[in-house]
Amino acid sequence: MLKPHRDIINKVPKVLIIGYGWVGQFIGEYFKKAHYVNEDGVVRRVEDNSVVNGYHNYDFGFVCVPTPMLKNGRCDISIVRGAVKNWIDWVGQFCLKSTVEIGTTNYLNKKYGNRFCFSPEYLGETVGHPLTDARKETFIILGGDKSVTGDFAELWTLVTNSYTKIYQVPAETAELCKLMENSWIATKVMFCNEFFSLAESIGVDWNELRQVWLADPRVSPSHTWVFRNNRGFSGKCLPKDINNLVYYFGGLKNGKAKLMSFLLRRNAELRKQYNDEVMLLPNVDKKFTKKTD
Ligand SMILES: NC(=O)c1ccc[n+]([C@@H]2O[C@H](COP(=O)([O-])OP(=O)(O)OC[C@H]3O[C@@H](n4cnc5c(N)ncnc54)[C@H](O)[C@@H]3O)[C@@H](O)[C@H]2O)c1
Repeated sequence: MLKPHRDIINKVPKVLIIGYGWVGQFIGEYFKKAHYVNEDGVVRRVEDNSVVNGYHNYDFGFVCVPTPMLKNGRCDISIVRGAVKNWIDWVGQFCLKSTVEIGTTNYLNKKYGNRFCFSPEYLGETVGHPLTDARKETFIILGGDKSVTGDFAELWTLVTNSYTKIYQVPAETAELCKLMENSWIATKVMFCNEFFSLAESIGVDWNELRQVWLADPRVSPSHTWVFRNNRGFSGKCLPKDINNLVYYFGGLKNGKAKLMSFLLRRNAELRKQYNDEVMLLPNVDKKFTKKTD
């Protein structure tokens, strides 16, 4: 693996990565001199996992902790809140990489002063995913006040190259963009699943149909495979993020997310024979119902 040039490393401000799982470790690929911490509170060095003794001040913190789905569909940001509370006196400015409920960044800025921005994470977990190579990051979205996003933008310029597009937008634009991204992916998956069923019902081969559909340059191949024995969508991100969206807009007077709400129900219907570990819809997961009722 290529390492950033020594001069660049030496000029990078002090960075703490809070939550060193899949996303945290990806951030660590850029910031080799950073420290990281998990819920055990032990601070370690990214470069060799050695323990850091004593307390350090950090210019920047990346929050990459879990934000699970609550049983009512809402995104649970309590781990983010707890992690921020733990580190607020040691970190200057925070970038939330965890997927959060809309309004979280503004809430933290109000509570602790204007020190937070949100950056939607597009990292995937499948082999060959187009956005898993730290050297090929093509865009970074930073949502928040320019006084914070500007500093994080500058930080990224130290570890990426000038082909990288860095966008600075209001916090809620970036927060909604993350949910829009996964809503789009889920919509595409469900669209392909629909046409898979339609094709099968009249004896058309889905793979041939998919191939000719993809001949159109306006259609990209991502998320167009349909798995005969694993229909619809599941996994760590899509159900949780779309429930997050539907719950949030469900609480607003004029803003119900009707299409995405339908998609969640249609997906649960398509997947009813599978024993999903994750909740697809609020309160209806069999396992979950068993545990709590
Ligand atoms: N995995 C992805 O591809 C992906 C993509 C986009 C967004 N996200 C979002 O990023 C966030 C993190 O996802 P992940 O896949 O990296 O999760 P993960 O479970 O792989 O990692 C989370 C890390 O946080 C640590 N942690 C838990 N509680 C903590 C606490 N109180 N203080 C400090 N550390 C704590 C855990 O030990 C773990 O190392 C989630 O909000 C997720 O929705 C993930």
